[in-house]
Amino acid sequence: MQQTQRLFPVLLSLLSLLLLAAAAVPRLDKDFNENYRDDIVNSRDCSVPKRSSAQEAMNELFTCLLETHVQNTEVFRLARQIDFGGIAGNGVTQKPLLTRLYSIAKVTAASESYRRYFDVVSIFTPELGQDEVRGSNELALEAAYLAHLLSTPFIRDTYATLRANNAIDAAVSLNQFVYGIMYDHWFKLYARTSKAHAAGRRESSGFGHVFVGEVKTNDVTGFHSWLQLLLAETQGNFDYKGYVRIQDSSVLIGGIQFSWMGRSKSLSSVMFGVPPEFELALYSACFIVNPGRRTNLSIKGRPVSVQTFYVNHQPESVATAYPIV
Ligand SMILES: *[C@@H]1O[C@H](CO)[C@@H](O)[C@H](O)[C@H]1NC(C)=O
Repeated sequence: MQQTQRLFPVLLSLLSLLLLAAAAVPRLDKDFNENYRDDIVNSRDCSVPKRSSAQEAMNELFTCLLETHVQNTEVFRLARQIDFGGIAGNGVTQKPLLTRLYSIAKVTAASESYRRYFDVVSIFTPELGQDEVRGSNELALEAAYLAHLLSTPFIRDTYATLRANNAIDAAVSLNQFVYGIMYDHWFKLYARTSKAHAAGRRESSGFGHVFVGEVKTNDVTGFHSWLQLLLAETQGNFDYKGYVRIQDSSVLIGGIQFSWMGRSKSLSSVMFGVPPEFELALYSACFIVNPGRRTNLSIKGRPVSVQTFYVNHQPESVATAYPIV
């Protein structure tokens, strides 16, 4: 009995030490995993029934998706701490944009969403003029990504909203939406120029352009994904050259200048801290409702505009899609 009494204060201080240590551990991985699992298991349904216009329905849909599945994640909050450094123009390389806040290991461990994104990015060849390789390995990763998209609330609720608002045919099933319509938008291969098209090239795709980025002799084209930026900075072949414009509204959008693999891009707009499924859902909806045009949305009451273009010789495919900053 006496011994227990003497031990008690020791145990108490040990316990408080343990609690302190637990509090000091960054909670990024755990928070995000929990959020993500909660989302999948008992998520609020964000799909929007018939409204006066598809665009009005999209405003409601993306406000709900952002509030329910994105804005409470640690990754989204961290995006607000990005230091954009100096304004672009003098070509001088600035401090890395993202690797100081995130690490690939952390975001990958933190979410299924990001891990699957990095898996699918690996099948793309950024060099234009070189055909994409689609062997069994690549096709399996592509199929796995489509199956993943099908399971997310972002894509399911977008499908239901577009269907209820007559933006897609009522006869189209969720499976057909993902494996047919979204496949054509993002994964169906094409040539970037009419000359390359005449030569039968299969060098590009919507996903490769927007979410991976492409390089020509001197330039980078596409490249609108913050996760790809993080990956490139980690690989050491990306130099951030400053910002052109920043819009911090319901989502943080940066117009930035950089070089990648020795080729440069003077302005690329990127949405930071959001899961790729959110971007894919948003850009797909804008492409379906306003192909080749600008869509002015109101997300959480704040303006967010998206520009899409289609491929002339393959109009079911996205040539590009990006936030306007
Ligand atoms: C979108 O907003 C811009 C800037 O306010 C405006 O110039 C443009 O006409 C709008 N486009 C559409 C399609 O409403």
